[in-house]
Parts: sequence; C-alpha cells; structure tokens
Amino acid sequence: MQVITTCAELAELPTEQTRGVVMTMGALHAGHQTLMAAARREVGDAGLVIVTIFVNPLQFGANEDFDRYPRTANADLDACREAGVDVVFMPERDEIYPNAVGVTVEPGPLGEILEGAERPGHFRGVLTVVNKILNVTGADFAVFGEKDYQQLTLISQMARDLFMPVRIVPVRTARESDGLAMSSRNRYLSDEQRMTAVCIPRAIDRALLAAPMGAEAMRAAGLAELTDIDVGYFTVTSPDLGPVVSGEPGRVLVAIRIGDVRLIDNAYVPQVGSS
Ligand code: PAF
Repeated sequence: MQVITTCAELAELPTEQTRGVVMTMGALHAGHQTLMAAARREVGDAGLVIVTIFVNPLQFGANEDFDRYPRTANADLDACREAGVDVVFMPERDEIYPNAVGVTVEPGPLGEILEGAERPGHFRGVLTVVNKILNVTGADFAVFGEKDYQQLTLISQMARDLFMPVRIVPVRTARESDGLAMSSRNRYLSDEQRMTAVCIPRAIDRALLAAPMGAEAMRAAGLAELTDIDVGYFTVTSPDLGPVVSGEPGRVLVAIRIGDVRLIDNAYVPQVGSS
C-alpha cells in the first residue's frame, strides 16, 4: 500500500488502471470498511482503490467539532492495509487549500434544508472538497455511504449538474447489531448515551411501519419514540429530498442531539401511503 501526501505524487500513479475513490475524514470504522469493500468489488483486482483521509476545515461551522474531530492516522492506515487498499492520500490542509479558500462550489437550495439549515455553509464545504479530491485523484468512480443521505444526494447532483466525468456509487448504511448507524461520532457517546442512541433506528422502524398511513402518521410514530430527545428534524421526503408524494417511494430522515453529539440517520420508504 502506497501512502502519499501530495498532489504531485498522485499525478505519478499509473494512468491505465480504473480508479475507485473512498473519501473519508479518517477515524475509520466498520462502516468505512464496507465502502472500501464496495470500491474493491466495483474496481476489480486490476483497478486502484484510493482512500483519501482529510479532515476538511471548510465543512465545519465555527462552533463545531473540527479541533476535537478524532485523528487516528496509524489505526486508519492499519484498517486500509487490512482492507487491501492500494493507495492512501493523506494531504495537509495547504495541499488542498493552497489559496486560503478561493473558489467554492455552491450547493443551491438543496444545501439549505435539513443538515444545511442546522449547519450553514456545511455543504459548500463538502462539495468544494469532494470536487477537489475527485479532480486531483482522477476518480473514475467514488463511493459514498447512504448514512449521509443529503450529502450523497448533493454530490450526485453536483456530478450531474457540472457534467463531471465520474460515477457516484451509493453504499448502504452499515449498522451496529442494535441498528445504530455506524459513525465516527459514535465514539463520543458515553455508555449511557450509546444506549439512548438506539432510539434512532427504533424511531425509523416505527415510522416505516406507519408508512401505509401516510407521511404525517410516519412522523408522529417516529417522534413517539423520541420523547425527551433533542430532535433536530424527523421528516419524510421524496427520494430526492423534495416534497413527499403519496403512493410513491420516499425517504425518512432524522437528526438528534445527545449531549453535544449530533447523530443522523435515514431509510428508504418503499411506498408512502396517503393519510
Ligand atoms: O462524509 C465525510 O466523511 C465527508 O463529508 C467527506 C465526504 C469525506 C468530505 O469531507
């Protein structure tokens, strides 16, 4: 496995192999392993799986956890080696942002709802770094987890709207045995908070059971599981995050805060009934 830190070194990689990219901010867990495995399946033995590790300052708000975001470089490299990754790209901040900030990518209205409403500027930061990393790695495709569903939707939209020559491959959310979605932020939870966090998959399950009765019933069923919880949102949308349409598939999305840890999750709804 090659570990590189500069764009110049990336430019020296062989050009004839298909490149599959897994973008991360490090603190790798089993969820990232499923992304790496998906990239390997997609690229085949002859292709290059490139994992990037970069904690992107531009996507953190002033009061967010950029400074305390877990940085576990050695363990991350071990995890990449174990997963059979070919190249790890771990740039310093100046390599990615040589001109302070410079040009950024504007996400449009979809970037202002849900996570974007709670975290102004977050998706400008995400799309900007994703664009830079896709370009500099020369990715043929990149895999992204469905756990960050709004991020995945916006990245797919960016690739389409900007005619980017890259395929965005979604990967299903990896979950703990009790259903909690895997996330680097789970490690901030105390044992007690970790037990509380299982309310998220339970709320989603209850909402899914109520799907035949429509979006409002889904919301009420989900929220009933989240009493005494600081809920950012619990909502049902169309699969592309627009208004939900009765009789059509949908997406249920939730954000909560436990202590100072923000957790998000979502699920596909095969059909949203009418109320
Ligand atoms: O999902 C993440 O870890 C980050 O938002 C990403 C896509 C690596 C961009 O910094």
